[in-house]
Amino acid sequence: MNKNVTLIEHPLVQHKLTHLRMRDTDSKEFRELVKELSGIMVYEIFRNIKIKTVPIETPIGPAVGKVIDGDIAVIPILRAGIVMGEGILQMIPTARVGHIGIYRDPVSLQPVEYYCKLPSNIEDADVFIVDPMLATGGSAVKAIDLVKEAHPKSIEFVCLISAPPGIEKIAAHHPDVNIYTLAVDPELNSHGYIVPGLGDAGDRLFGTK
Ligand code: PRP
Ligand code: URA
Repeated sequence: MNKNVTLIEHPLVQHKLTHLRMRDTDSKEFRELVKELSGIMVYEIFRNIKIKTVPIETPIGPAVGKVIDGDIAVIPILRAGIVMGEGILQMIPTARVGHIGIYRDPVSLQPVEYYCKLPSNIEDADVFIVDPMLATGGSAVKAIDLVKEAHPKSIEFVCLISAPPGIEKIAAHHPDVNIYTLAVDPELNSHGYIVPGLGDAGDRLFGTK
C-alpha cells in the first residue's frame, strides 16, 4: 500500500460499501449510503484534528470542555462530491465549503474544469477535497492544483473507492497529499471505470441514466 493512503476498513463501512456497489441499489438508497459512509469516514479523517479546551457550565456546575480548534474547509468536486460533502458537514457543521466543478471527458478521460469557488483566506485551513471516485486521478490532481493556488495549510483527498492509477498519479504530482479511501479496487476498464467499482457515481447519485 502506498504510504500516502489510509484505508478505512471498519466492518460497518464494508457492509454499507457492499450495498453501495450493488447494481440494484436505487438513487435514494445510494445517496443515503454515500452520506452515511462519508459521516463515518469523518471519525478517521479528523482523528488528529487540533482541539482546544473551553470553560463551560453544565446543569450541575462548571467544567472544562474540548472543541475543534482551527479552520477546516471541505471542497467537493462536482457533481458526485456534493453528497459526500453533505455527509461530512453533518458531522462538522462549522467547516467552510468550496466547490470545484470538473468533469472527465468521456473519450480522452482528461479532466475539464468548469467552476471553482473556494472559501476566502484559506492559508490557515486544513482542506479536505472530496469525491467518491479516484480512477485515473486526472480530476483529483486538477482539483488539488487549483486548491494549492490558495496556499492552504494542508490538503487531504477523501474518496470512497480508488484504483492504483489514481493513487499513483496523486502520489507523483502531490506527494504531500494524503488519500483516505474505503477500498482500493484492482484496475480500470477500457472506459476508465473502476473495476468492480460501483459504476458512474454521478449518474447513480442523481438518477441521470
Ligand atoms: C467522476 C468522479 C470523479 C472522476 C474520477 O466524475 O466523480 O470526479 O469521475 O475520474 P478520474 O479519476 O479518472 O478523473 P465525472 O467526470 O463522471 O463527473 P460528474 O461527477 O459530473 O458526473
Ligand atoms: N467515475 C465514476 O463515476 N466511476 C468510475 O468508476 C470512474 C470514474
